[in-house]
Amino acid sequence: MTSAPLAAVTGAEGFIGSHLTEALVAAGYRVRAMAQYNSFSSYGWLETLSPDVLDQVDIVLGDVRDPGSVRDLLTGADCAYHLAALIAIPYSYRAPHSYVDTNVTGTLNVLEAVRQLSTPRLVHTSTSETYGTARTVPITEDHPINTQSPYAASKAGGDRLADSYHASFDTPVVTLRPFNTFGPRQSMRAVIPTVIGQVAAGERTITLGDLRPTRDFTYVEDTAQAFLAVGTAPAEQVVGRTFNAGTGGEISVGDLVALIGEVMDSALDVREDPARLRPANSEVMRLVADATRLADATGWKPAHTLEQGLARTVEFFRAPANLARYKAGIYNI
Ligand SMILES: NC(=O)c1ccc[n+]([C@@H]2O[C@H](COP(=O)([O-])OP(=O)(O)OC[C@H]3O[C@@H](n4cnc5c(N)ncnc54)[C@H](O)[C@@H]3O)[C@@H](O)[C@H]2O)c1
Repeated sequence: MTSAPLAAVTGAEGFIGSHLTEALVAAGYRVRAMAQYNSFSSYGWLETLSPDVLDQVDIVLGDVRDPGSVRDLLTGADCAYHLAALIAIPYSYRAPHSYVDTNVTGTLNVLEAVRQLSTPRLVHTSTSETYGTARTVPITEDHPINTQSPYAASKAGGDRLADSYHASFDTPVVTLRPFNTFGPRQSMRAVIPTVIGQVAAGERTITLGDLRPTRDFTYVEDTAQAFLAVGTAPAEQVVGRTFNAGTGGEISVGDLVALIGEVMDSALDVREDPARLRPANSEVMRLVADATRLADATGWKPAHTLEQGLARTVEFFRAPANLARYKAGIYNI
């Protein structure tokens, strides 16, 4: 009897990481899942996965800023998915050092562990925010990098380290660059859960930041499949390369709120809150993906429309047990 391959995942207790953990188990993997150490022994969203999934998951508390912790996580793994990061842009204005520690040094620790342990495949997570406001659309992987926030800069730093490890040591790393992802379990700092969460909590006056920027939104299960696609494709097709993951669709925040109002059958009064505006030169005004490279290399394409994804997200937030996990009344940064 052959045993299931072992996937190591950082950031597994988070939004995308918990969906990726489910997708890996569904694809036949055992998962060693890192949840960030905390004294409450909280395993984040991993605590809500079904017992069948959790049977195949070993949860370990750790920290990507600690090299030994990362090495333990990756020991014996057949592949590694590095998602752990600090991701909130507004908080990166306040606490930039912690972003460098987590997103740059943390990524360096993962790359070193992969190098030393000869882990066969690492998927490193980038972000569309590294492109900054689109100069040409749709955005291909050859678009210039323009980091308009400390968050974006720290993620680009991790990307450059990943590229350098591939060039210097032949480290088998592939970089996935997701565009905005949404769905169940996302934190309320992101626009879709902020709106849906406030409406589900009975609010009809919605406060938001700038309504003009446009984004390309991918449903989280499709993003999880993009991770799996680059994690399992033949090495010669993906290793050493960067892949956008996005739908190619584009919608402004203002139009998105109107669409959510339709999906939730609610008339919404939207107000711009100056406290939620990014500094003008830091706001990324336009992001829309060209994911042709990913489709050509792996066959990946999104399976959900924006409307289908929103309907599933609304269903999640309308369940009282789920909504109770959020603080819908405060501005989450
Ligand atoms: N959500 C999006 O729209 C989006 C888009 C592009 C890229 N990404 C990237 O996807 C990845 C996952 O993001 P997410 O949206 O699921 O966010 P998330 O905040 O839900 O997940 C990140 C996880 O990393 C963990 N973490 C933070 N610091 C850590 C540390 N020092 N050690 C160990 N774990 C730590 C957090 O506890 C959290 O669970 C990130 O790398 C992010 O940059 C997200």
